[in-house]
Amino acid sequence: MNAANPNESFANEAALQLDASGNLRHLLTLRGLEKALLTDILDDATGYLTESGELPARGRSLAGRTVANLFFEASTRTRASFDLAGHRLGADVLNLDVNTSSRKKGESILDTIYTLEAMQVDIMVVRDASAGVPAFIARHALPHVSILNAGESDVSHPTQGLLDVLTMRQHKGAIDNLTVAIVGDIRHSRVAMSASHALGTLGVGELRLISPPVLAPDPEQVPGATILDNLEEGLKNADVVMALRIQRERIGNLDGIPGIDEYFANYGVSHESMKFAKPDAIVMHPGPMNRGIEIEGSLADGPQSVITQQVTNGVAVRMAVLDRVGKTMAAR
Ligand code: CP
Repeated sequence: MNAANPNESFANEAALQLDASGNLRHLLTLRGLEKALLTDILDDATGYLTESGELPARGRSLAGRTVANLFFEASTRTRASFDLAGHRLGADVLNLDVNTSSRKKGESILDTIYTLEAMQVDIMVVRDASAGVPAFIARHALPHVSILNAGESDVSHPTQGLLDVLTMRQHKGAIDNLTVAIVGDIRHSRVAMSASHALGTLGVGELRLISPPVLAPDPEQVPGATILDNLEEGLKNADVVMALRIQRERIGNLDGIPGIDEYFANYGVSHESMKFAKPDAIVMHPGPMNRGIEIEGSLADGPQSVITQQVTNGVAVRMAVLDRVGKTMAAR
């Protein structure tokens, strides 16, 4: 194999994630996963949170297991948090340096996977710029091996979606009462896709996706969401406002995308634009942030911001997912 098959349907992908008993084996997408499973993962993640200043939660459920992080795209938060999550559950954790890996010499991704399986790696955490890669690997992995999607092109970032809804639930309670506004480059954002999948399944009150028309999503990819190009309309009475950066690495032609000043004036999440949202609205950003472009720096650092809480929740969510697939493995 040298290329993933992007035509594999999400329904097949969703079914591939569960074993014959309905337990989570791989995490490839949130689309198609049941509300009860999402809620269980969020509840498990909550159990891994401790107060700031206390020691982080630890467990031994992955003792003897090996987790490999395979990030074929840059990452700070996701890679570091999977690393910490694996260690905190007692696993051996291997961070493959993709810049010096044999993929650089033309080795296919499956040969890399088979090589790691031969070293008895149990869980592979995969980030890739091409759509379909995590599911492709999952289809070819040994029966006891789990594949976790850590960010797939503009398609899916399921643990990010989980940590985002966990953060909303912590600060705002039941998701079904909420108006959530996501602002920015929706078209190229796997974060927006996974958030919309999770929020849809959890029955969000209203999801608004706000962007310049050139960065708007395909409506078929975000069923149930309201697509808007006016920031005031989009933020009006919102409970949650999430800013997204422009995903320049996934945009071939930047023609038609507003310049920085115009973009910030029309789509920047700022003290000024937050006046349209509810006074107690929370401000989120998945990172990495471009201050002064999609979000005002002092707002990101201010009392409405829950951005660092999202990062904390990322470790807890990844512990919950690793623990769950470890239990599925142990039950085989
Ligand atoms: N939010 C997110 O995926 O961040 P990283 O690219 O740093 O992992």
